[in-house]
Amino acid sequence: MLPVTQLEVLVVGAGSVGQVFARHYQLGGARVTMFVRDKYRAEVARGFDLYPLNKRGRAAVRFDGFDVVADAKELAGRRFDQVLLTVSSPALRGAWLPELIRAAGEATIVALQPGLDDRSVLAAAGASEARLVQGMISLISYHAPLPGETRFPKPGMAYWFPPLSPSPFSGPAERTAAVIAALKKGGLPAKQHRDVPHSAGFPSAVMMPYLVALELGGWTMRGTARTGKLALGGRGAREALDVVRHLLGRAPFGLGALTRPRLLRAGLWAARPLIPLPLEIYLKEHFTKVGDQTREFLDGYIAKGRSAGLPVAALEQLAGELAVARGGGAAN
Ligand SMILES: NC(=O)c1ccc[n+]([C@@H]2O[C@H](COP(=O)([O-])OP(=O)(O)OC[C@H]3O[C@@H](n4cnc5c(N)ncnc54)[C@H](OP(=O)(O)O)[C@@H]3O)[C@@H](O)[C@H]2O)c1
Repeated sequence: MLPVTQLEVLVVGAGSVGQVFARHYQLGGARVTMFVRDKYRAEVARGFDLYPLNKRGRAAVRFDGFDVVADAKELAGRRFDQVLLTVSSPALRGAWLPELIRAAGEATIVALQPGLDDRSVLAAAGASEARLVQGMISLISYHAPLPGETRFPKPGMAYWFPPLSPSPFSGPAERTAAVIAALKKGGLPAKQHRDVPHSAGFPSAVMMPYLVALELGGWTMRGTARTGKLALGGRGAREALDVVRHLLGRAPFGLGALTRPRLLRAGLWAARPLIPLPLEIYLKEHFTKVGDQTREFLDGYIAKGRSAGLPVAALEQLAGELAVARGGGAAN
């Protein structure tokens, strides 16, 4: 019988998403290496405390026992089966990505970024279609405690898998199946999807204009509705959805309804008791952290809409107000 070799996984980025995926790969039996910026190396090497919110109890679970690297050169002589990219969309751009993909040999590249141009960035960096598996993140994870949270005995990464929402993956059949199997084995909900590259762009198109509206409304739903920003966000979401439809075709069923602010609010109100974290505070913390990504997505919808001759007035208004709110002056 052939010896069974341990799955080797390189997780790029050891932030909120990276820690969770890495832990579950390890729980599934994989040997995990974290690829981090040099400034985080010592901190990451000490390991992490995590709080899986789907489980009862508030004791932190320890996650360590992985390797840490901070440069593609350190990968020389190593073999990886899967390389998971957990960094934000803007962070994909840079000389580090082609270096890393070259160093990763024949490994499957698993990308979680939903940006409309991210696949071409990946292709240009050497991640060919034949080895690229694309996924969508359906979990929520954050540095706990959030402001006002008192339930955690010490700081750690809290995370939650929403029920009935496994992270979808698609790509070359064998490679995709291997990614899903490894994650599921470690308890991370994952499923096969027909076409993630097609579907991934739509949820962001609806979400990003609302998130800008929320930021302009002071990160509370009430403030956002009272100041009229929620309605503006809804108009922006419709415009962005039309831009993505123009580029990718039909939107997933039901998504268009969320561009109606009233339906969105009603949905959030109904879901709130099921979500085991303070949603508005999480949104503020998370989307302040990845604020450059929100801005990049918004600018992308505007540029693509303009060149297709589609209306983008609400998106432009959101972008202009966002620039002023962030202290950068009016946008063009
Ligand atoms: N957290 C969530 O609940 C959630 C949910 C859905 C989707 N997402 C998406 O997932 C992506 C990651 O989110 P996150 O919450 O994990 O962000 P995060 O906590 O900021 O983690 C990303 C990590 O990657 C690091 N990084 C950036 N470029 C790198 C590079 N070249 N090499 C190595 N490490 C690098 C970042 O370092 P620096 O801090 O120094 O830049 C950061 O530590 C974002 O696009 C986000 O919108 C997150």
